[in-house]
Amino acid sequence: MLSITVDSEKCNKDGICVTACPTKVIQLNSTEEVPTPIPEFEEYCLACGHCVAVCPTGAFRLNWLKPEACPPISKVLVLSRDQAEQFLRSRRSIRNFKDRPVEREKLQNLLKIACFAPSARNNQPWHWTVVEKIADVRRMAAMVIDWMRMVIRKHPEQAELRGLPRVVAAWDAGEERICRGAPHVIVGHCDRNYGFGAEDTALALSYLELFAPTLGLGSCWGGYFYSAVNAHPPLFEVLGLPAGHKAFGAVMVGYPKLRYQRLPLRREPKVKWI
Ligand SMILES: Cc1cc2nc3c(=O)[nH]c(=O)nc-3n(C[C@H](O)[C@H](O)[C@H](O)COP(=O)(O)O)c2cc1C
Repeated sequence: MLSITVDSEKCNKDGICVTACPTKVIQLNSTEEVPTPIPEFEEYCLACGHCVAVCPTGAFRLNWLKPEACPPISKVLVLSRDQAEQFLRSRRSIRNFKDRPVEREKLQNLLKIACFAPSARNNQPWHWTVVEKIADVRRMAAMVIDWMRMVIRKHPEQAELRGLPRVVAAWDAGEERICRGAPHVIVGHCDRNYGFGAEDTALALSYLELFAPTLGLGSCWGGYFYSAVNAHPPLFEVLGLPAGHKAFGAVMVGYPKLRYQRLPLRREPKVKWI
C-alpha cells in the first residue's frame, strides 16, 4: 500500500510537490495545510519519487521512499557543458576486449545505473540475463551463427540485406563478429506483449553503455545476438528466458583493448522547424 506523510513543521506549503507530480495525485487545499493525497492516489501514483526529490525541506515522504534515503544532488558533481559534451561524444561501441572477465560487482553496478533510465509510466519493466562465463558466450555466438545459416538458406534476400553472409564467412575464417570476443553478454528482456519494451530497454542499455567507461569497461550493442534470441528457440532456451518474454536488447561487455584518442563527427541533425 502506498501512502504519504508530510512533516508539518518542515513543510513550506509551497505546492512544489503538487506541481512536480506527473499524475496530479497530490493536492494542496490551502496555504495553511500540508499537501494530501487525492482519493485515487494509490491507483495513479507512478511511484516515481518526484515529490520527495523536489521538496526543498525534506518534509515529504512516501512510506517506501524517505528523503534521508535519497542522496542530495551535489552541485560540485554537476558536469560542465564541455565535460558533458566530451562524456557523450566519447562513448564508442567497443569491439575489441581484453582476455579478462569483469567482476560481478561491476556488472551489478552497471545494471543498477541502467535502471535509472526513464521508462514508460515508470514501469521499470526490465529483466536482465547476464551471461557470465566466456565459454557460454562463445557457445551462444555459435548458436547465432546456426540461426544466420538458416536465414541465409531460407530467406537469402533478407540475409543479404542484414549482412549475414559476410558475418558467417568471417566466422568460418575464424573471426567472431557476433559477440566480438567479449567475456560477457547482458540481455534485456521483458513481457513480450508490453508495448514499451523496446523503448525502455534501449534507454536502460544506453545508460549502461554511458556508465561503462567510468568503471573502465566497454560495451557494444549485440543486434545480431538479441535478434537471434527471439528468432532461434535453442538460444532462447539456453538463456533460460521466461516463456512469455522477448529480448529487446543485448550488449557485450568487457575491458576494452583499444583506447580512443579523438571525438567522432556525426551527420548534421535532419530537422524541420515549424
Ligand atoms: C540496435 C543496435 C544494434 C547494433 N548491433 C550491433 C552488432 O550486432 N554488432 C556490432 O558490432 N555493433 C552493433 N551496433 C553498434 C553500431 O554499429 C554502432 O552504434 C554504430 O556504428 C555507431 O558507432 P558508435 O556506437 O561507436 O558511436 C548496434 C547498435 C544498435 C543501436
